[in-house]
Amino acid sequence: MSRRPVIAGNWKMHKLQSEAIELTNGIMQALKDEEKSALPEVIIAPTFTSLYAANKALKDCGCGKVRLAAQNCYFETQGAFTGECSVEMLKDAGCEYIIIGHSERREYFGETDEMVNKKAKAILANGLIPIICCGESLEQREAGVTDYHISSQITKALRELTKEQVAKSIIAYEPIWAIGTGKTCDSVEANRVIAMIRNVVKGLYDANTADSIRILYGGSVKPETIKEQMAQSDIDGALVGGASLKVESFSQIVKGAM
Ligand code: 13P
Repeated sequence: MSRRPVIAGNWKMHKLQSEAIELTNGIMQALKDEEKSALPEVIIAPTFTSLYAANKALKDCGCGKVRLAAQNCYFETQGAFTGECSVEMLKDAGCEYIIIGHSERREYFGETDEMVNKKAKAILANGLIPIICCGESLEQREAGVTDYHISSQITKALRELTKEQVAKSIIAYEPIWAIGTGKTCDSVEANRVIAMIRNVVKGLYDANTADSIRILYGGSVKPETIKEQMAQSDIDGALVGGASLKVESFSQIVKGAM
């Protein structure tokens, strides 16, 4: 089964609207000579306040080469939930994907496995695609509980999802110690963990579902690392933080995944 590669840029809490437009246009400009069918699925995830502006820039260009994601959502449809955005609102703003369970949200904002599961259900029920993040801390890695921890995160995140829903979902393996540190996880080790995640999906569902789901690596991905990462058997792409904030480095990563 051939899985289409995905390169997603998580802008985190960066970029004002004018800067978001500039970056969005810059990425599309950098990809203008590439055949759409040859490109990986290219996704950008601006902050809530820049979604409208980025979506407008994407629509004005009309090339359809870059898609929009949100960095978070709430699982309820509407109501008295001050400060939150529903999936329907994000879909209305042009999002096709939503990142959930990022380690920064788990650490600073108390996102639990149960919330990740509720968000995944709400996202899929609205026809969008969740990008479900998982990953171990340095302490967990050193204690030898990486696989156990990640299997548990994935099993809980996918609870009660159908195999059709899981097959179209995206998982991002992001070891916490590799995020924003410049210390990229060794490609062979990242591939081993990602293959382990695929095996968990196979155990929960079946071989077809495990073959279909795209599993990305994230954590200090750079233009210099992407080729080796993409050459691995089970790594289907990258969730990029810092290097997604500049046209040059992000477009090089996209091209490196072709
Ligand atoms: P960096 O690429 O900056 O390490 O961030 C990775 C990440 O957290 C993407 O979601």
